[in-house]
Amino acid sequence: LSRAAALQTALFKERRDIRSQEQRALLDSIPKDLNRPWEDPLPDAGGRCLAQELRGAGLSAQSMPEWKKRAYGKTGTFGKRSSLPIQDQRQQLPIYRLKNELVKALHHHQVLVVIGETGSGKTTQVTQYLAEAGYTEAGKIACTQPRRVAAQSVAKRVAEEFGCPLGEEVGYSIRFDDRTGPDTVIKYMTDGMLLREIMVDKNLSCYSVVMLDEAHERTIYTDILFGLLKQLIRRRTDLKLIVTSATLDAEKFSRYFFNCNIFTIPGRTFPVEILYAKEPQSDYMDAALITVLQIHLSQPEGDILLFLTGQEEIDQACNSLHERMKVLGNDVPELLVNPVYSALPTEMQSKIFEPAPLGKRKVIVATNIAEASITIDGIYYVVDPGFAKLNVYNPKRGLDSLVITPISQASAKQRAGRAGRTGPGKCYRLYTESAYRNEMPATTIPEIQRINLGWTVLNMKAMGINELVSFDFMDPPAPQALISAMEQLYSLGALDEEGLLTKLGRKMAEFPQEPPLSKMLLASVDLGCSDEIVTIIAMIQTGNIFYRPREKQDQADRKRGNFFQPEGDHITLLTVYQAWKAKQFSGPWCFENFLQITSLRRAQDVRKQLLEIMDRYRLDVVSAGNDLTKVRRAIAAGFFFNSAKKDPQGGYRTLADHQQVYIHPSSALFHQQPEWVIYNEIVMTTKEYMREVTAINPAWLVELAPRFYRSVDSAKMSKRKRQERIEPLYDRYNEPNSWRLSKRRG
Ligand code: CDP
Ligand code: MG
Repeated sequence: LSRAAALQTALFKERRDIRSQEQRALLDSIPKDLNRPWEDPLPDAGGRCLAQELRGAGLSAQSMPEWKKRAYGKTGTFGKRSSLPIQDQRQQLPIYRLKNELVKALHHHQVLVVIGETGSGKTTQVTQYLAEAGYTEAGKIACTQPRRVAAQSVAKRVAEEFGCPLGEEVGYSIRFDDRTGPDTVIKYMTDGMLLREIMVDKNLSCYSVVMLDEAHERTIYTDILFGLLKQLIRRRTDLKLIVTSATLDAEKFSRYFFNCNIFTIPGRTFPVEILYAKEPQSDYMDAALITVLQIHLSQPEGDILLFLTGQEEIDQACNSLHERMKVLGNDVPELLVNPVYSALPTEMQSKIFEPAPLGKRKVIVATNIAEASITIDGIYYVVDPGFAKLNVYNPKRGLDSLVITPISQASAKQRAGRAGRTGPGKCYRLYTESAYRNEMPATTIPEIQRINLGWTVLNMKAMGINELVSFDFMDPPAPQALISAMEQLYSLGALDEEGLLTKLGRKMAEFPQEPPLSKMLLASVDLGCSDEIVTIIAMIQTGNIFYRPREKQDQADRKRGNFFQPEGDHITLLTVYQAWKAKQFSGPWCFENFLQITSLRRAQDVRKQLLEIMDRYRLDVVSAGNDLTKVRRAIAAGFFFNSAKKDPQGGYRTLADHQQVYIHPSSALFHQQPEWVIYNEIVMTTKEYMREVTAINPAWLVELAPRFYRSVDSAKMSKRKRQERIEPLYDRYNEPNSWRLSKRRG
């Protein structure tokens, strides 16, 4: 009791001492929200309320040294983590002891499923072991990754271990970025890239080994590769196939691949204590940030890994953490904040693997990518809000959207496991134990059963796989999803009435992007504006172009406003790119104008790659000059599905399914609110917002998408329809057998 009283007194004293208003506001907010959300008091807290401890720790100058000691230990051994020579590090990995056994197993069997804890060395070592064993004499070794960043970062690491510059013996190939050369024998690549290669060469003749890594992620590309490789290994008995997977799926994978052997790498992990939230958290983002600070200020040494869902959220969280740390001032030790997501430039990605300097703590704020694809050493604390952004197909809407979805139990376990790699760790789950047990699905549904299959169907058709329904999928997609995809491709003109690939469809399949984008590009060649459209596609694919720091929002908005074009956001993006180009792609100019140089550089890169493909297929690159109508028409030719008309009741209604949607406040057209628009995508935040909006003339829809829209005979129109004067050709969702379009069109 006396201890509590003393603490209370100290607390009051500290409160008086607080000078900065801002500091007080922040500190007031922390204890309230904190309110000990955990079932158990953290062991170190000695039964005291963490909020109090945090307050005390963060503010009292006298108590500082003591808690600092507690937070960072006395040993100071941190920061020495990776000081071993690189070859010794390799020998420390759990897989090392099994090297010979693994090579022998693959010698005797054509297919192997390999399982083992994340970080045991599967991704980085297996390829090198096989190279040493001579497999590269007969061909290359391919290792697929579901994520771009993983392919890049792993290839970099392996090149280092192998002792060659990246792009020589060891390289990577991901969409829009190929770092391989004539000497490359170990090739890391995204599964999407291997799929493209198998389209060109069905036998994958340049490879002696294919390793489908992280297969449990079950991306759509991996799933198709499963089916194709299953056929291929029967034809090419010399080709070795390795499938790595999480333990949970191993049996299923083995059964699918002719009951092949399962090779297990015993793990080396430490126990992870799991702490659940006492109550559901209404704002997981805020809860997450508070938890990170709480750990930083009260827990012993060790880095923190926070899982969030996407780039925007992560940037926001990092800004917030910076700000809150700034407010807490010099009294608290430094916290290094590192974002991790796929669109992150390579230089920054490698930073995350660097250990924090001695005595400092780092927090890594990452997407799902840090769940299994990349391993970061030194993590002792995991903060898991329980959400991930998944691509989910909305059959009603006929398109995919990235939706923030609760994760599965398998994911939650995997996330927690990240804390137990270097020593015993802790995982803070920002959801209740009951939510974990009763509400979360056991495993994540494979992507193929979730997303729009437009690209997949198009490419399977291009590979000559016409019988999609009978394709040997490990988990077949819903027939309805296949049908919707075929309908979409039919409307785009990529399939004919028989469901066979058209000439246009064949060209569309050459581009590594969603069919509407490819259609827009090919239409722009005919319309004479491909130069502009290539830029626009590159810009919309690169994500956030505009930078909006919290403390300078008004200034940033003004600068962005200078770029706005009356035609809409697509043309605005085009204007930004052209202005940047006119400034010789200047960095300082981007900074002045609140533009993200990294995004722009990526757009420049994507643009270059698209131009290369166009060159290969002799597609003209022509500029529309001042005739921006051509550009808008090309956009409509690809994105006619996504059109909306102003609704007298407020906002807009989509033409395809009469959903209420709104123009995003950041849009160039937010104030203008034109009658008819086309949008690139819908994001669901507080409302359903259209992003990247362009004003159109509705007559274009009928003209450019006659398979989707028709003008309605005004005599037969309902009142509402009369206002609209245009409607989708058929009601895709309410009529059975809607694939039989030709009949209804007749
Ligand atoms: O594939 P698996 O999860 O079994 O392990 P891995 O990715 O081969 O990683 C083995 C070790 O290599 C990790 O523990 C990291 O220390 C190191 N590594 C690295 O330093 N940099 C990378 N980009 C990837 C791995
Ligand atoms: Mg791996």
